Amino acid sequence: MAINTKPVVVGVSGASGSVMAKGTVDALLNRDVPVALVCTVAGRMVWAEEMDEPYATALATWKESPYFTEYAIGDLRAPIASGSYPTRGMVVVPCSMNSLASMAHGISDNLLLRTADVCLKERRPLVIVPRETPLHSGHLENMLKVSQLGAMVLPPEPPFYLRPETIDDVVRYIVNRVLVALDVEDALPDADQYHPRN
Ligand SMILES: Cc1cc2nc3c(=O)[nH]c(=O)nc-3n(C[C@H](O)[C@H](O)[C@H](O)COP(=O)(O)O)c2cc1C
Repeated sequence: MAINTKPVVVGVSGASGSVMAKGTVDALLNRDVPVALVCTVAGRMVWAEEMDEPYATALATWKESPYFTEYAIGDLRAPIASGSYPTRGMVVVPCSMNSLASMAHGISDNLLLRTADVCLKERRPLVIVPRETPLHSGHLENMLKVSQLGAMVLPPEPPFYLRPETIDDVVRYIVNRVLVALDVEDALPDADQYHPRN
């Protein structure tokens, strides 16, 4: 079987849910899938609010993997900003309404947005994990627009029917959904993965 050396781009924006970003990068690296990470300024701010582990510590751990590359949000000359650089696609997790609106309208003035725009124009997978509540009509219209442009909108809804017991159970479910959407995994694991203490 040929090894897929093309990276998955993980974009982290400033919506609540940094734990989903960490779970996604961890899951990809655990599978030796190359990761190209880009995080917005607000993404780092939210991480500092929500996570026990500082962002810099997570980065240092990920950088121990030969499969991990980080790009600065302002680095519009990074290879992932070009359509001629092959990637396996991108996930924006979590996705703020600000970044969602930009993607819906082709605005690409930072590396996360530019790379997402590249995925859309190159018809590569783009998975958007939006996080806001409640949603106004503009948010909903922007979700429709990115969907019509070819992105998959994957809201981080808890799988209540699987009776998750912890945030970790929910995060694992969302991350597995993302991996399937990006074709990194063929299918979701068995339901008992999400309440392993039973
Ligand atoms: C602690 C914190 C939590 C936030 N949570 C959300 C959220 O869940 N959804 C959202 O759309 N924006 C949220 N925001 C606001 C965004 O961070 C803000 O709109 C920012 O401009 C987004 O920029 P970005 O898209 O470049 O990351 C939050 C901000 C902070 C500081």
